Amino acid sequence: MRLLIRVAKEAQRKYFHRTSCYRFTSEGSTLRKGPVEECKWLCGSSQNILSAVREQVEVRQNFISEEEENALFKEVEKGLRKKRYEFDHWDDAIHGYRETERLQWGDVCESILRRVRAVAFPEGSPLLGPVHVLDLDKLGYIKPHIDSVKFCGSTIAGLSLLSDSVMRLVQENNSADWVDLLLNRRSLYILRDDARFKFTHEILKDEESFFSGQRVPRHRRISVICRNLPV
Ligand code: OGA
Ligand code: MN
Repeated sequence: MRLLIRVAKEAQRKYFHRTSCYRFTSEGSTLRKGPVEECKWLCGSSQNILSAVREQVEVRQNFISEEEENALFKEVEKGLRKKRYEFDHWDDAIHGYRETERLQWGDVCESILRRVRAVAFPEGSPLLGPVHVLDLDKLGYIKPHIDSVKFCGSTIAGLSLLSDSVMRLVQENNSADWVDLLLNRRSLYILRDDARFKFTHEILKDEESFFSGQRVPRHRRISVICRNLPV
């Protein structure tokens, strides 16, 4: 898994001008003059970019319960606690982290992961066996990168434990186009297709962690990430 991160293509952080943030709104059916639906976890640089990525990004709030979060935490902590947080590799895509991977899970965690796979991946899609566990220190963050296209397929699905955070996607060939996803603690996010291949993704560091102008304090955060294989 280490390899997988190392070969993740790191993008240069270009000058990032924070203009106003657009929220995704979709007028309900014209017949049903209901309230305008809002997507509370998504904002971005324009309505166009929001419409373009809307089908390829998803955040499911409260995908796991507090008990399930605890069960996952207990199980991943065993593999993590032997390791030290890595801070000094400035060329890495990730700063202030430790990681592990896990193939075999206890019953509770296995059933959570089954649910993740059922909602995230196309049926029959071959999956990467080991699940990736990434523990970001409070001072840790993930720089903009694209996961290796050689080792990972069209879909990335991650559970967020312990802390809320903001994931930013920036279009690789036009950094003026970006969207932010609010990843609440215990949510599941899914990136698919262009959102995964044509946008870099990153997790903002605590001091830059804002969503739609609102501060989102970043504490220690553990993500449990499932990926599929390239076809
Ligand atoms: C990665 C990554 C996101 C997350 O490990 O490649 O982008 O949610 N992780 O931790
Ligand atoms: Mn990644």
